[in-house]
Amino acid sequence: MGKVDTSLLALETPAILLDQGRLQANIQLIQDIANTHGVSVRPHIKTHKCLELVRQQIDAGAVGITSSKVDEALTFINNGIRSVTVAYPLVVDSKLDRLIAAAQSHDVDLRLIVDSAAGVNAIAQAAGRHEKQISIFVKIDVGLHRCGLTEDDPGLLELVRQIIREPALKFTGLLSHAGHVYGAKDGEAAQKIAQEELEILTRVRKKLESNGIEVSEVSIGSTPTVLASDSYDGITEIRPGNYIFMDRTPLRLELIELDQIAFSVLATVVSQNSDYFIIDTGSKTLSSDQGAHGMPGMEGFGLAYPADRFEDKNYEMIVAKLSEEHGFVAREDFDLAIGSKIRLIPNHSCVVANLLDTYTVVKDEQIAEQWDIVARGQIR
Ligand SMILES: Cc1ncc(COP(=O)(O)O)c(C=O)c1O
Repeated sequence: MGKVDTSLLALETPAILLDQGRLQANIQLIQDIANTHGVSVRPHIKTHKCLELVRQQIDAGAVGITSSKVDEALTFINNGIRSVTVAYPLVVDSKLDRLIAAAQSHDVDLRLIVDSAAGVNAIAQAAGRHEKQISIFVKIDVGLHRCGLTEDDPGLLELVRQIIREPALKFTGLLSHAGHVYGAKDGEAAQKIAQEELEILTRVRKKLESNGIEVSEVSIGSTPTVLASDSYDGITEIRPGNYIFMDRTPLRLELIELDQIAFSVLATVVSQNSDYFIIDTGSKTLSSDQGAHGMPGMEGFGLAYPADRFEDKNYEMIVAKLSEEHGFVAREDFDLAIGSKIRLIPNHSCVVANLLDTYTVVKDEQIAEQWDIVARGQIR
């Protein structure tokens, strides 16, 4: 088998490997799409939770960050990020107080979403307590059916008017996430979902404008829709997250090639039987996620290769099953020694990143750096 750098093979496993060249290419790919269409990039940092990576995104042109959780956002605020969207419905006073106090003391442009009158009330009162102006987006449900108002919700106009009446809040615009794209059949279906999202948001924007309400921003974002879309008319901002790493989902949708995936997991073969190589990497590393948002569509829990045959189709295997600390890699017609290394591409890189402490950054197949996943586990 081919020669690989020994320092990589000497790593204790499980370990996340990041390919520095591919990271930079992925950051640039999305920034170029945004620049071409005249929209801003506000990457979702729930994917990487890492300061070194956010700095690369900002250096490439990102205008700030998107986060999902308060403590995750605070890590980035405390480390110098000054424009933050928490794209998650915040309705609990203690969390709002913690976030808004930090945003006030660091002079952060804080942007929150709502989809209920209770949410508007909670944010308005917290903003009042801290004398902080907050930009508010109304979340629109474009098909994931998770959070947000559908375009025909009879309460939509009144919710926007409630925001406008609150002195500490500024109604800024509309925000959506077409997460159902992760269940799409192929790239064409993904493009259709992106197109539908655009059309829904355009109709909602026009409805508000015809009622005399200014909609200054329209924010969309998921990696597959951004990669599949060819039109951004009326959009001001995109918020992809996964793109910095990529994983098996955009690959399954044929929106990327295998060699664009910057994220892999190094594992060790610790045992074997007639059906499987058993590796030291189970659900406590890979998670049991078969695709984002619980969408099905992929066999097993990741692609696996002998470490010195990484991404070689002739040596591709599937992680078929997981125990907590063991992975079952379905054997093909070659042997691997106990103690040898396997390199995996997980189904969903964002959840794997939240389960380990560090990234090992690889450049030209050599270990270049280790970066802390500082906000990992910050899920409140
Ligand atoms: C509200 C919101 N915006 C943006 C994103 C980023 O999507 P992706 O990771 O597909 O790029 C997510 C992902 O879950 C999200 O929930």
